[in-house]
Amino acid sequence: MSAATRYSIPAIVLHWLVTLLIFVAFPLGVYMHELPPSPTKIELYSYHKWLGITVLMLVAVRVSWRLTHTPPPLPSSVAAWQRQASAGIHGLLYVLMIAIPLSGWLMSSAKGFQTVWFGVLPLPDLVEKNRELGKLLTEVHKILNFALLASVVMHVGAALQHHFIERQPFLQRMGWNRGHS
Ligand code: HEM
Repeated sequence: MSAATRYSIPAIVLHWLVTLLIFVAFPLGVYMHELPPSPTKIELYSYHKWLGITVLMLVAVRVSWRLTHTPPPLPSSVAAWQRQASAGIHGLLYVLMIAIPLSGWLMSSAKGFQTVWFGVLPLPDLVEKNRELGKLLTEVHKILNFALLASVVMHVGAALQHHFIERQPFLQRMGWNRGHS
């Protein structure tokens, strides 16, 4: 597949790296939230926050790369409504990949827990300690994650539909070299 119809290597690497980190941070978030208080729960909360802040950093790099490197054009066979839907979902995914870690960081600050990235780099508290705000941001973090889940299902569903139903080499655009020649 020619470079003209494929994302650049940095875009492909960042896509799959951020996907992997989110696919770990999400179930870890759900699991740790349900645990009774214990040293293990506190440890898992740290790992979750380290993953989340790493996602935020990588997404910042990704957005800068995306704004300076035009993605390959969609195949001409893609319908106008599919182009709009794809642009909409991609935009929403970028907003959520920034808003979710930010809401987590804000929530931790409001709950009085400083985030120390990988236990070595203390990050500034973005807001003063505030119990009510902490509760509100916990709900915001949860709701944004449900929106992420719905967007990822639509995103993956569309990619698989294009690739396996419409037989268009969509997965190759993002570096997956199996399937159509
Ligand atoms: C893309 C990155 C992230 C994803 C996908 C994510 C996902 C989640 C999910 C699914 C939950 C469980 C929500 C629930 O069941 O109520 C959760 C909880 C939590 N997250 Fe995140 N999160 C991310 C980043 C962060 C960051 C950066 C922080 C803090 C620096 C953070 C702090 C927390 C905390 C403290 C909880 C537990 C809230 C509670 O006790 O109710 N998250 N996260």
